[in-house]
Amino acid sequence: KQPNILVVGSMNMDLNLYGIPRISQFGESVGCEAYKYATGGKGANQAYAAALQGANVTMVGRVGNDHNGHSLITELERVGIHTGYIVADKNDQTGLATIMVDDLGRYFSYVSLGANNKLSPEDVEKALSEMSFDMVLMQLEMPLETVYRTYELARERNIPVFLDAGPAMNISLDRLKGIYIISPNEAETEALTGIAVENETDAMEAARQLYERANPEYVILKMGSRGAFLYDGKTAKMYPAYKVNAIDSTGAGDTFNAALVNKICLGESLDDAIQYASGAAAFCVTRKGAQISIPTAEEVEKFLQNQLIID
Ligand code: RIB
Repeated sequence: KQPNILVVGSMNMDLNLYGIPRISQFGESVGCEAYKYATGGKGANQAYAAALQGANVTMVGRVGNDHNGHSLITELERVGIHTGYIVADKNDQTGLATIMVDDLGRYFSYVSLGANNKLSPEDVEKALSEMSFDMVLMQLEMPLETVYRTYELARERNIPVFLDAGPAMNISLDRLKGIYIISPNEAETEALTGIAVENETDAMEAARQLYERANPEYVILKMGSRGAFLYDGKTAKMYPAYKVNAIDSTGAGDTFNAALVNKICLGESLDDAIQYASGAAAFCVTRKGAQISIPTAEEVEKFLQNQLIID
């Protein structure tokens, strides 16, 4: 059976700049090699990635009633996502992310959230009261009240919630107590715990702190090219990342979350699900852009088979 996944989150048009030689100073313009517009936003990317894995996906989000907003909705519909709960508001602009990518595929980004800032608990409640879901997947590119309320609404219905704790900010973890999974990347872990994760000892300390504060089933730290770190309150395990030629890491974390959630909903072991999600994220890093870089289930399977041969 295909999992029914509700994604609550952001939808942004991304402007990616490639080949940035360095970070510019105030008052200075620095040339870079190329640019690309691509549909993105952490919520939309995760919805897109879950759909490419074969899940039934419903998206709750907000865009402006403008060209970018329409493109974002069209892209989600193209991969079969239910977009009926997305609001296109004529009084708002669609979110826009500028993403500067260097030659190692790393990026830094500035985001103007626009319509995403209006995503409301009522928007979420509508979807949750009209449909049933196996899992809710959300992030932090929306008002925090909506994040906390989404968790409460899902919990009232016994639906597990996966929180991708991005972008980096310090949120009230006590309002998310008992959440199923909390998964920050390195920058987000530092914003939440004050710990700069440089090795497994740091990861353990940060994961333990997050576990104590949010009391989730699992903490999963996304550590970029180093891999993923799982902690369940008793034991910890590091999953090394697959080695790839990194072009653009935009959307890799989103791909990881969505592939993981899909596999968990399908009843696979967490161990297998994390290995698979690591493969999906690694593949994503080898292509440019957010949604257009996200692999299908077939692409991930093939990638993982090739890894076995190489190993
Ligand atoms: O996680 C990557 C996403 O973060 C980008 O697509 C950008 O829109 C920002 O929201």
